[in-house]
Amino acid sequence: MTRQNEQVVLIAFGGPSSSGKTTIAQTLKALLADVTLIHLDDFYLTDSRIPIDEATGYQNWDCAEAIDFEKFTTYVENVKSGKEQVPINSIQSNDLNLKLDPSEKRAIVDKIDSQQDKFKGKKLVFIDGFMLFHNPELVDLFDIELLFHASFSTLKQRRESRGGYNTAEGFWVDPPDYFEKIVWPGFVNSHKYLFVGEDVDNNLKPEALRKHHIYNIRNDSDSTLSELVRKTLDIIIDNL
Ligand SMILES: Nc1ncnc2c1ncn2[C@@H]1O[C@H](COP(=O)(O)OP(=O)(O)O)[C@@H](O)[C@H]1O
Ligand SMILES: [Mg+2]
Repeated sequence: MTRQNEQVVLIAFGGPSSSGKTTIAQTLKALLADVTLIHLDDFYLTDSRIPIDEATGYQNWDCAEAIDFEKFTTYVENVKSGKEQVPINSIQSNDLNLKLDPSEKRAIVDKIDSQQDKFKGKKLVFIDGFMLFHNPELVDLFDIELLFHASFSTLKQRRESRGGYNTAEGFWVDPPDYFEKIVWPGFVNSHKYLFVGEDVDNNLKPEALRKHHIYNIRNDSDSTLSELVRKTLDIIIDNL
């Protein structure tokens, strides 16, 4: 996967469902020369092994236990050490609803071109997933951590506008109360340790940045794709 002597830089695009991780990772990947993008969604357990939420009886696709983390961690560690990996046949759809216009694209490409010395000798690997920061040990596997985020109401509205999700073996459509019963509590319980007062709408604790290098990127309803991609790129460049 890597050329010799290249330094692999693992950049995690984490955060709750519908916070824009996949959109921003795919948009930025398309503008950079040679980025590998790994989706945590490709490491889901098979459909019959997805845990069942006791209170609702729903399959819980939004908890860490729905993912084969042993397989994922081994894969990412191998990527980091430059070992050849079998490319993943992704279940992720490549259709993006949001797109940059040509002038926005131009401005971002110009910025990348002006910072070529920062990228030299480095192989960037983007990792996109809803459960990348729930476990501090896993967080430390990554070199740069970006936590995309939005309010409850924005995330709920975006999630509920989606038709459904490809799964390892089929297709999943959320029941009507799935966001408030499963998706949101799953995010809050696994990520509150990173936030001041354990309130996920508050700022990140300073030690989240200091110790784990996690950056909070708000993608609320008034955020544009262009500003999000520029902000993401600036953080990456600052940390290369
Ligand atoms: N700033 C934004 N404005 C409008 N729609 C957005 C914005 N960010 C994301 N979306 C939409 O929200 C949905 C979820 O985005 P996606 O990138 O798939 O999120 P994630 O990968 O975090 O689940 C997509 O339909 C996307 O087009
Ligand atoms: Mg996604």
